[in-house]
Parts: sequence; C-alpha cells; structure tokens
Amino acid sequence: MRRVAALLILATACTRMPGLAPARGAAPWEIPAESYSSAAEHGMVASISPIASEVGVEILRRGGNAVDAAIAMGFALAVVHPAAGNIGGGGFMMVRLASGEVVSLDYRETAPGGATHDMYVAPDGTLRSDRMLGHLASGVPGSVAGMAEAHRRYGALSWTDVLAPSVELARDGFILDDYRARSLAGGARRLSRFEASRRQFLPGGEPPPAGSRLIQTDLGRTLQAIADSGPDVFYRGFVADLIVAEMERGGGLITHEDLATYRPLWREPIRSTYRGHMVYSMAPSSSGGIAIAEILNILERYDALPPFGSPAHVHLLTEAMRRAYVDRNHYLGDPAFVDMPIARLISDEYAAERQRTIEPGRATPSPSVLPGVPDGDHTTHYSVVDGDGNAVAVTTTINTGFGSAVTVSGAGFLLNNEMDDFTAAPGQPNTFGLVQGEANAIAPRKRMLSSMSPTIVEDPAGDLLLVLGTPGGATIISTVAQVISNVIDHGMSATEAVAAPRIHHQALPDTIRYERDGLNARTVARLQDMGYAVVERPGYSGQVAAIFVRRGHLIGVIDPRSGGGATGY
Ligand code: DON
Repeated sequence: MRRVAALLILATACTRMPGLAPARGAAPWEIPAESYSSAAEHGMVASISPIASEVGVEILRRGGNAVDAAIAMGFALAVVHPAAGNIGGGGFMMVRLASGEVVSLDYRETAPGGATHDMYVAPDGTLRSDRMLGHLASGVPGSVAGMAEAHRRYGALSWTDVLAPSVELARDGFILDDYRARSLAGGARRLSRFEASRRQFLPGGEPPPAGSRLIQTDLGRTLQAIADSGPDVFYRGFVADLIVAEMERGGGLITHEDLATYRPLWREPIRSTYRGHMVYSMAPSSSGGIAIAEILNILERYDALPPFGSPAHVHLLTEAMRRAYVDRNHYLGDPAFVDMPIARLISDEYAAERQRTIEPGRATPSPSVLPGVPDGDHTTHYSVVDGDGNAVAVTTTINTGFGSAVTVSGAGFLLNNEMDDFTAAPGQPNTFGLVQGEANAIAPRKRMLSSMSPTIVEDPAGDLLLVLGTPGGATIISTVAQVISNVIDHGMSATEAVAAPRIHHQALPDTIRYERDGLNARTVARLQDMGYAVVERPGYSGQVAAIFVRRGHLIGVIDPRSGGGATGY
C-alpha cells in the first residue's frame, strides 16, 4: 500500500477543472482526496453537480426512494449541467433493489427512420463533420421516456414532486459555479452557431461568468409540461412539434413518427463474478457490461495481480483491455439488429483462451495502428443509495459536450450528437478513436453502441458493495474496470480507488495512454522495452461518481479530477 500511496500523491496532483491542467512540476495535489468523499447513515448521492446532488438528497429526505432521487437528479442535471445532463439525449439506469433483485433500463437514442448506412460518408470517402455538429447528428432522444418508465415501475413520490426542483431551477435560474462557467466558455464557439443555443447559453453574446444566474425560461416551460402531463407531451405533444420544426429548419431527420414510436427497454444486466464478487453492468446496446466482464475475467486468471502501477501490472491491464475492446468493436451492436455471442464473451472458458495469448513481459500488437484518440468528459454519471438499501447507477449523455450544439427553439434543450457512436464507415475511427465494425453500422431505428457502464458490485456475501460509473467515451469501460480492481485486488479505500491514476488501452490506436504523472519514468521505459507505445495524455481521465458500502456505512466519492457533490444524510 505504501507504493500506492506514493503514486496517489503524484496522480492526484490534478486539477478539478477539466481542460485546466496544472503547470508541469506543480506541487502535488494539495487537497486530500478525502475532501471528495463523505459518509452518511441513511442515504447518499454522488454526482458531478453539487446542486443536482442537493436535489437528490432532498428527495431522499422527503421519503423518496433511490429511483425517485435518480429521476430528480437526471432532470436537475439537464438544467444545471448542460454540457451533458439532458432531456435531449439518452442513457442507462442500473437498479439494485434492497431485495437483491437487479434490473436495468436502456433509454439509449435510436437512429431516425430516415437514417442510412452511409449517411456520413462524403463522396471522397472521408467522414462528414455534420455527424458531430448540427441537426443531422442527433438520434431520437430517450431520456424523458426512460425517466418516466423508471418512475412508472418504481417511483414512490409523485412524478410532479420529482420534477418540481428542476422546473424551479430552470425557471428561476441557478448560480453558475466555476466549473459550469468554464464549461460554457469551452462550448461557446459551437453553441454560437445556432440561434436558440446562443440565446439560451450566451446571453449578451458571451458565456456567462461564474457567479451569475442562468435562467432557462423555455426549458422551465418544457419541464413544467412534462411534469404536468408526462412524457407524451415530449413524444407526441407540443415538444415533439418543436423538435420536428427544429429538424425541418436545420435539415435533420427526426420525425413525429420517430418520436411517437420511441420505447425504453428493460434489459437483463450483464452478470459476471470477479474473485467472488458479483458485478452487474449494462448489456447491449451498451458494450460496457460485456467489455468490463471480459477484462475482469482475464485478470481473474491470475491468482494475484502484480503491485499497483508496476510494469507487470500495466502490462496485464493493457492486454486484458486490448482483447476486450477488439471484441467490443467487432461483435457488439443493438441486440434488435445483431446476433452476439454474449454468453461466450463473458465466459470463464473464453477468458482463459484470451489469457493464454498474453505473453509475459511482451506487448501483443493490435492488427494495425491508427492516429490519436480524443476523449472528453461530457457524459455524466450519478449514483444513489437510499435508506432502505435500494441502489441506482445512471450514466447519461448527449455524447460530446453540448451534443449537436442545437437547442430546440422554444423548448430550451440541447439535442445529442449520438449518431457518431455508430460505425460511420468501417475502418474509420469515430470521435473516441473507436474503430468499429458492421455490427454497429447505421440502420433506421437502431440504437448506436455505447460504452456507458453504470455498474453495481456485490461483496462475496451478496451484499451491496459499490455503485459506480463515469463519463469518458471509450475510457468509461477501462475506468470502471480499474476502480473495481483497485478495490478488490489492491485493497484500496473508496477514495484511493477512485483517485488512483488510470491507464487506458482500446486496441486501436495501439497505445497505452496514462494520466499526467500517473506512471513514473522507469515504468514507462520498462513498458517501452516490452514493445508498448506509451503516451502521457493531456489532462485526466474520467469523472467517477461512486458510493461504497463499508460495514453498513455509505461512503460517497466524487472524482477529485472533476469535483461535484457526494452528499448524504
Ligand atoms: O455512449 C457512449 O459511449 C458515448 N456517447 C459516451 C460519450 C462520453 O462519455 C463523452 N464524454 N467523454
């Protein structure tokens, strides 16, 4: 553990503000990671936004259950964390009831009915930029339908009560903190291209400064309508009319029929065991559960992992990740469209076969090498545990920061640019550098493959241990797997496990990326000797929001890389 602690001091010398990296050689992280955790007796929430976390904990205090709190936080994040919180995107919810039953809800976006296989391929074979920006980038939003379905099945408080805080935050405004002000400043160029986005997010033509109040009147009206009359107003009522009018104005594809036929789907979670712990994570249309299971199953072939941060440890993590991402990219897609060998991919026999191809002390090259991978932190994850022991993990997104940058005129919310998660063209990387196959090709009404991985872990006695998830595009999978391994293999505390430096490898590009100062020079040199390309990525990776249960106590942890709110009562 001493070695871990030393690495942690280096690794946590990070900024709480994405994009605002500390100067090289800056003093080690001065705020102990413990500042980003809190403990409570009855209930706990953790999210990227202190305001959304307050909303969640207040719902719990008023007798709401974990699902009520999660729904209230989802809508609140749509107001107070506009880069990723949303009603114009989609997500996944993992629920573990106090009884031990675990269910999951897929409210991922779908391709519009008019979408076609090659719609983003330009005549010269390159990918068109409108797969990322503007009206053509959007899938049919699933978030409102998802929240309503979760509430229909599990809600204890009324729908109106659960939505009330977000209506108020939009209508009366909220004070922008430094994080959100910087985030809006970062998105200002993209947002300024669309009139309704300019009006809503750049009052007076400028990103609003920290300390100012952001009022979102149109969004308040939309949320009030959803509170009053349920999701139908979004999918068939005046909000649907406004979405379709916006699409017609900007050359997008979403129609009334696309909206009216959207359905969230309950799915069996992917279950796998890791050293006696049960891990539940998301099934397709997310790749997360299968890929995390494959990584952990391969690691489980080793009786014990090498010391944290050692060359041998990074080697094993990398090779497990490489194999899982190769399979992800080749096999996985929307189960309504593709047959997938899921049982095999998550089996111990398969992990044993995969593990046998790992050469001690040597990199296995991926088939070919491609250019670098941008990733951002523009999705968001939040976790909730209530006083009865119900647990909810939600990851939700409009894909990259501020999604397509198109705000629906009159309705006040941003639309996603999730279509880029499909394979736009075989062999060509998407914005996260993922090189995917035909299983994830575009087809009408199909769900684009996600990496989002809301995850719940039980201890060997079958009790709730860990509720977690993170944004980070393709890095979501490797981040969640590493936090789980940090707890189970390296005996780290909750805060250490989240703060510890992370690496990432996704098969292509064939590169280990590590966080600033996350590996020492000797380890990097040794990995290079083994045949690895190793790069220090700019900034830090992931924004984990987790809840740990330790001896019956709840410990909420928010990633020191992002800050946010871990709040209990
Ligand atoms: O569903 C996915 O896998 C991506 N759309 C998630 C995007 C994301 O995490 C962006 N933030 N870094």
